[in-house]
Amino acid sequence: MNKIAQIFQTLEYGPAPESAQPALDWIKAHDGVFGHFINGAWTKPGKTFSSDNPATGESLAQVSEGSAEDVDKAVKAARAAFKSWSALSGYERAKYLYAIARLVQKHSRLFAVLESLDNGKPIRESRDIDIPLVARHFYHHAGWAQHRDREFPGAVPYGVCGQIIPWNFPLLMLAWKIAPALAAGNTVVLKPAEFTSLTALLFAEICEKAGLPKGVVNIVTGFGETGQAIVAHPDIDKIAFTGSTDVGKAIRAATAGTGKGLSLELGGKSPYIVFEDADIDSAIEGLVDAIWFNQGQVCCAGSRLLVQESIEERFIAKLKLRMSKLRVGDPLDKAIDIGALVAPVQVERVRELMQKGIEEGGSVYEPDIDLPAGGCFLKPALITDVSPANTVVAEEIFGPVLVVMSFRTPEEAVALANNTRYGLAATIWSENINLALDIAPKIKAGVVWINGTNNFDAAVGFGGYKESGFGREGGKEGMGVYLKPAWEKDLKPAPAAKASPAKPANPLDASQGIDQTAKMYIGGKQARPDSGYSRPVFGPAGNLVGEAGEGNRKDIRNAVEAARAALGWGTSSAHNRAQILYFLAENLQYRRAEFAARIKEQTGEKGEAEVDAAIERLFAFAGWADKYDGAVHNPPLRAIAAAMVEPIGVLAILAPQARPLLGSVALLAPALAMGNPVVLVPSEKSPLSMTDFYQVLETSDVPSGVVNVVTGDSAVLAKTLAEHDGIDAIWCVGDAATSTMVEKASVGNLKQTWTSRGLNYDLSDTEKFEGDYFLRRATQVKNVWVPYGA
Ligand code: NAI
Ligand code: MG
Repeated sequence: MNKIAQIFQTLEYGPAPESAQPALDWIKAHDGVFGHFINGAWTKPGKTFSSDNPATGESLAQVSEGSAEDVDKAVKAARAAFKSWSALSGYERAKYLYAIARLVQKHSRLFAVLESLDNGKPIRESRDIDIPLVARHFYHHAGWAQHRDREFPGAVPYGVCGQIIPWNFPLLMLAWKIAPALAAGNTVVLKPAEFTSLTALLFAEICEKAGLPKGVVNIVTGFGETGQAIVAHPDIDKIAFTGSTDVGKAIRAATAGTGKGLSLELGGKSPYIVFEDADIDSAIEGLVDAIWFNQGQVCCAGSRLLVQESIEERFIAKLKLRMSKLRVGDPLDKAIDIGALVAPVQVERVRELMQKGIEEGGSVYEPDIDLPAGGCFLKPALITDVSPANTVVAEEIFGPVLVVMSFRTPEEAVALANNTRYGLAATIWSENINLALDIAPKIKAGVVWINGTNNFDAAVGFGGYKESGFGREGGKEGMGVYLKPAWEKDLKPAPAAKASPAKPANPLDASQGIDQTAKMYIGGKQARPDSGYSRPVFGPAGNLVGEAGEGNRKDIRNAVEAARAALGWGTSSAHNRAQILYFLAENLQYRRAEFAARIKEQTGEKGEAEVDAAIERLFAFAGWADKYDGAVHNPPLRAIAAAMVEPIGVLAILAPQARPLLGSVALLAPALAMGNPVVLVPSEKSPLSMTDFYQVLETSDVPSGVVNVVTGDSAVLAKTLAEHDGIDAIWCVGDAATSTMVEKASVGNLKQTWTSRGLNYDLSDTEKFEGDYFLRRATQVKNVWVPYGA
């Protein structure tokens, strides 16, 4: 048989190699060794390390290990450049971003080859997905640069941004970081991951070619220590990180109390849900993309297959057949499906996790296919016989390994899908659009793909819920994390609170003349403090005006439990929430005199104005409840992406000392309007306005558990709340020390935090606080992708 006839017989692919030469030539033109790109110039290479090709183990180039001094030099350059860069018109910045987009396109093949060489990903992916998305990102953000002031009135860039990225999509993650930062008017110091520095260095040259002013983009290469030096640098205004959840948590802790902006895009263990009425062949192809795209080294990989029991057997059989057709091979071969993992340590990590899966009772299936000799290659793998408690089901494997579980009902699918500390993405397959759109909002994840998977676009935000991080990349939300209100930088320290009169030595003396202790309010009921103790509340002259419960850990636990039971508040209709907030305002109006008197009693100030302001604030957020909503994006493929605004979950609020009523209501109202049940710690000094408030809550149809009030020592309760895994976000008005403590203690489940850091946020300011400032912090955006076309 001749060769062609033979090929027809077997339908085997032949190799279709892409030449590595242009990329190797580029490396050679740099003598195979690179310094950092700082202030528009290359530094002399210092201590270097090798960047390897994981498909062969060969060294590609030497890159420099950034020291703290290198980072400092880069930050100084970025700081110096910030002044003129941020002063450019949006149109001027847009032209630079456009020039970068064009140059990336022009050199796209070189970028793709270099990326595949350094990372091991198939050229098919770097050429058709990574690099086109990079160009798309710069195009898209050119527009944001120009329209920034129109779309974000009153906002200014942070300043110098420190950006640390992982190795799985080296250039794409760079684009996701640099494009919005520059569009917003920031300058950057970026560190690529140690395994994959090369395309970032090629990008530096593109910046030179585009004539980008010196110091606007600085690239410092190195390991985790270099990243740490960026995080620790005092003159960096914002940190953006993508990588593992552990490092993300370390960065959260390291930045606590510094006032640095922070966005984190971390790991995932995303469910891939297949219902019995799915188009099975499409779902199988989708699954190949979900878990074997980029060797499974994808933060949003569909790594947990949840398949309906009725089709499980058939689906798994088809999947195994499909797996046996996957080709693992040279990343530069255009006809392979799976390339090399990034480095030997990653292969080792994946193997260890698989071994653990076997030890815990899982069965591993790997198809009988060839692997190239040497290099970081692994077969695609499937693990069955696992349950939610297994390590391989709970942990991010970050390799070509899928775990499988089944479900019977949609409710069970949702429960399994959400049974994870992560919340990055989810995929749903069903031909029943009603079912798919019913499930999508119930899944706690930042991105949901219906009948498709791994779709990305610059216009559509991407980012996580829960321990997958916070902040978004792409879309308007993504621009938002690189901007802040101009007034924030003018905030002055809050005036020192007047010291409360000392507690009397004999506790019995405290309650003289007071026969009733104000109750706390938990789960829709008045509650006595678990401690059995109360604390005196003094008036302005040091006179005793009442007593409030001394809340403790147990009270917080009860309050959190009640709030979690009330999470349905978030799925009640916005119209319903608006009505209840209006009703609250109305009922507060009825009691205006009584609340005003209570304020006067505690603060000595005439209370009417504060009550009126609180009523107005409730009205304002009643008005927002059904208006602060999402968008529908139209990405360049046959799909729409619905950007849905969702509540974060249970919110803890530590209200300011001043303005015992308005201080709480100003924070409570936006949280409630957006659907978050709240655990509120009212003013420590003057808690009685909010303990009175339960009567207003009760007469206003606020469902029980939606607002819980625990009185006591703010700093102590703040710590308990910040450490509690049942709290999803925490807002704290407090001094610098308390704010730092809250941010540090939030690390456990990566709560979203807002703290006042001892600064004077005047919550009575309607201009600043009746709008989106807190609405944005009370919500997270979920993008639901829905394909169309028959
Ligand atoms: P990593 O999180 O350590 O690395 C990401 C980036 O952070 C790199 O640039 C690294 O140099 C830098 N870095 C490391 N330690 C740092 C520190 N203390 N302070 C500042 N920067 C620091 O991820 P690694 O070790 O490369 O991979 C380990 C595991 O993490 C993977 O197996 C995977 O499970 C997960 N991972 C998840 C990613 C995602 O996008 N979800 C991306 C990369 C890794
Ligand atoms: Mg490499």
